[in-house]
Amino acid sequence: MSRRVFIIFVIPLLLISSSTHVESGEDGYISFGISEKGLEFAKDLLINTAISSLIPLQLPKIEQNVQIPLVGKVRMVLSDIVIYQVNVPTSIVQPGEMGVTIVASGATANLSFEWSYSYSTWLFEFSDSGVAYVQVEGMEIGMTLGLKNQQGTLRLSPEDCGCYVSYISIKLDGGASWLYQGIVDYFEDDIVSAVEDTITNKVTDAVIKLDSVFQTFPKEISFGNITALNVTITEGPTMTTTSLLIGINGLFTQIDPKATLVGHYTNNLPSTGTGTGSCSNSEKMVGISVHENVLNSASTVYFNSKKMYWVVDNLPDQKILNTAEWRFIIPKLYKEYPNDDMSFNFTVLSPPLIQIQNQGIVATVNSDVFINVVDAGEVIPVACISMEIEASGFAGIISTTLNGGISLSKLTMSLKWSKIGTLHMLLVQSVMSRLLKSIIVPVVNLRLRVGYSLPDFHGYELQNASIIYHDSKILVCSDIARAYDDYIPHRFYYE
Ligand SMILES: *[C@@H]1O[C@H](CO)[C@@H](O)[C@H](O)[C@H]1NC(C)=O
Ligand SMILES: *[C@@H]1O[C@H](CO)[C@@H](O)[C@H](O)[C@H]1NC(C)=O
Ligand SMILES: *[C@@H]1O[C@H](CO)[C@@H](O)[C@H](O)[C@H]1NC(C)=O
Ligand SMILES: *[C@@H]1O[C@H](CO)[C@@H](O)[C@H](O)[C@H]1NC(C)=O
Ligand SMILES: *[C@@H]1O[C@H](CO)[C@@H](O)[C@H](O)[C@H]1NC(C)=O
Repeated sequence: MSRRVFIIFVIPLLLISSSTHVESGEDGYISFGISEKGLEFAKDLLINTAISSLIPLQLPKIEQNVQIPLVGKVRMVLSDIVIYQVNVPTSIVQPGEMGVTIVASGATANLSFEWSYSYSTWLFEFSDSGVAYVQVEGMEIGMTLGLKNQQGTLRLSPEDCGCYVSYISIKLDGGASWLYQGIVDYFEDDIVSAVEDTITNKVTDAVIKLDSVFQTFPKEISFGNITALNVTITEGPTMTTTSLLIGINGLFTQIDPKATLVGHYTNNLPSTGTGTGSCSNSEKMVGISVHENVLNSASTVYFNSKKMYWVVDNLPDQKILNTAEWRFIIPKLYKEYPNDDMSFNFTVLSPPLIQIQNQGIVATVNSDVFINVVDAGEVIPVACISMEIEASGFAGIISTTLNGGISLSKLTMSLKWSKIGTLHMLLVQSVMSRLLKSIIVPVVNLRLRVGYSLPDFHGYELQNASIIYHDSKILVCSDIARAYDDYIPHRFYYE
């Protein structure tokens, strides 16, 4: 039985193509692509995990009545049959139409069992027992893992699974073992099929178990009690000859159901076919494409859950927060409130709009800036300037931290209202621009430089990640490795 199944695995392997690039999925706002190198890594991990979870592997007891000339019927029992070691020297992984096929070939296994026999003549009863060691050579274990999307959840199924043993050698210990070697060799076929059937069943069970683990994963990952990331699968899994692609919804939603979203996503949904970036030429394991709408959904949730305003009333250069400093720029201000303290209230009016362009990330923030005078402890708004700030930014990933930096790229202002006469906007703008560049941008950068932790994948992290900016998408091309302690300082950062 297992022999026939085995043939099915091997044929698709001849179709291995040499293309290696990862392309991001077509739908969903976050897509994942796993390249040939990534599949290799996942396969090795899967095989090692499978071996350590299966070993020691108990096989069913084998009993036989052997007819021996002169002696008569001898009853032999092999019990406590345990595979205690498996070595897989080579293995291959191949995505195909049915799913991902993994074949471990040339595998060896070590197995031990207790043997005993007994027979009786009309005069005496004989019995003996001992331990035997078996070397299993040239095992081929193959399995096709079916992957499909069922209502937004990834389902795994064991599509085709088989094990084939080419040769075993049995060595007996104890009893008058040299005498029984021939008899035990008689069990070779039984042991071979017990190994083949048990491994086939166990691998099938392991896939079913893995699938049930996948079913327990939520469709949303919550961050605190404010926002959740929708991880519903919207696209794929799609298998090409060298890669596997999967897309998830990827938008942040507000957890509080009472909250109303005033989001403003751009209309350019992920385009089909054209315009998708790819980690071409890079020998990276995974490619993760994040559409700008993901960032805009986060921006919307953040905006809705927190009042976004920033009061500046304390500066290293405190002079700027005194009406005296403004006497030439806004004479009427100084005249009405001589030598009074001032404060600025930057109030963000709508969720910052984030766009991804070929050069990097561009954030546009619409805000009102209230110019306040603090007169005898009373805060008096004296003017309001509407300000549109455009900042360009970049992101970097170091192990499990996402960080970045911004710089001010454009500033436009207009006067909304004023109780202190007409303002000389060109002069006001130059002061505001100085304030933003010297105070606000560095404070934001300090926070971005510290970064934000990325979720950890069960002890694995992104390594050697590079970020490519593409029209409306960020593409992260990265390797995956076990998390190490040594921290490499961030080299993407600039002021
Ligand atoms: C397991 O079998 C291999 C050969 O298949 C042999 O080289 C090795 O020594 C055996 N290991 C043990 C612990 O018996
Ligand atoms: C959310 O969590 C914060 C603390 O983390 C708590 O103060 C707040 O009450 C929580 N809000 C809700 C709606 O549970
Ligand atoms: C999550 O995404 C799926 C697929 O796009 C969508 O059908 C579902 O409504 C989303 N869930 C929430 C809570 O927005
Ligand atoms: C800043 O302005 C917002 C409204 O734009 C207001 O809600 C908030 O109280 C102000 N904060 C201070 C400290 O003036
Ligand atoms: C990351 O890059 C370094 C240097 O190029 C290399 O030694 C290391 O193996 C890479 N890590 C992975 C997981 O490929």
